[in-house]
Amino acid sequence: MITLALYSMKGGVGKTAAAVNLAHLASAETYRTLICDLDPQGASSYYFRIKAARNFNSSKFVKGGRFIDENIKGTDYPNLDLLPSKLSYRNLDLALDDMKNSKFRLQRIFREIEHEYDYLILDCPPGISLVSENVFNASDYIFVPLIPTTLSVMTYEKLLEFFTKKEYDAGRLYAFFSMVESKKSLHKEMMEKIESGGQNILRTRIPYRSDIERMGVYREPVTAFLPQSDSARIYAGLWEEIRGITGMGRAEG
Ligand SMILES: Nc1ncnc2c1ncn2[C@@H]1O[C@H](COP(=O)(O)OP(=O)(O)OP(=O)(O)O)[C@@H](O)[C@H]1O
Ligand SMILES: [Mg+2]
Repeated sequence: MITLALYSMKGGVGKTAAAVNLAHLASAETYRTLICDLDPQGASSYYFRIKAARNFNSSKFVKGGRFIDENIKGTDYPNLDLLPSKLSYRNLDLALDDMKNSKFRLQRIFREIEHEYDYLILDCPPGISLVSENVFNASDYIFVPLIPTTLSVMTYEKLLEFFTKKEYDAGRLYAFFSMVESKKSLHKEMMEKIESGGQNILRTRIPYRSDIERMGVYREPVTAFLPQSDSARIYAGLWEEIRGITGMGRAEG
């Protein structure tokens, strides 16, 4: 199982939009895929029209084992399962803090299901917390959507500093531009500046598009409800790039 995180300290940058579409594309290529919603807001659970069981909560999640097995749900798409979040995940930091090896708890939980899936995709909440450190330890690759503005770039630089300070391997960290408005000269300038900076920046740029925004109305990945659209094609390009980074080829769907 290869674990991919969609992560950013910043909120509202396109983590969930990417997680949902990438998970759908991976599963459509017949990769057994699990998307794990780590955000108490539950956006990826919402997009797949899935609700967690009433009695599921953050303490059960961090216990792992049968609590995970019981709460993984099938989606409407073949090969794609989802582990929904609950509002109680707002306490996930506290629940993790109570565990031994608290920074490696998620890694341990996910190891128990590693033979059941080819890809695990983590839809992360914004912020930098114990949950985030668990994500950094549990993930093989971390993908950071970056809106090309000064503040986003500053936040990304802070993340790189954090990785260096805590001795996480920044080689596993990749950024891609998100919500790009190509008419904005600031966006263009920022993208050129960052691309010349020598970090891992993916080639695919996700533009700002209303059909991506409409995922909230259709409650489906755009790659499912508008598979022929430009937006779907661009996410497919992102997936192909990411699949390549993980060393996997195209599996036939
Ligand atoms: N490329 C895009 N073009 C237009 N709208 C987008 C795009 N990507 C995401 N959105 C919209 O912007 C909002 C935020 O996107 P999304 O939920 O993916 O961000 P996020 O980083 O997961 O946010 P959070 O930090 O709250 O979890 C959503 O309403 C989404 O539909
Ligand atoms: Mg989100």
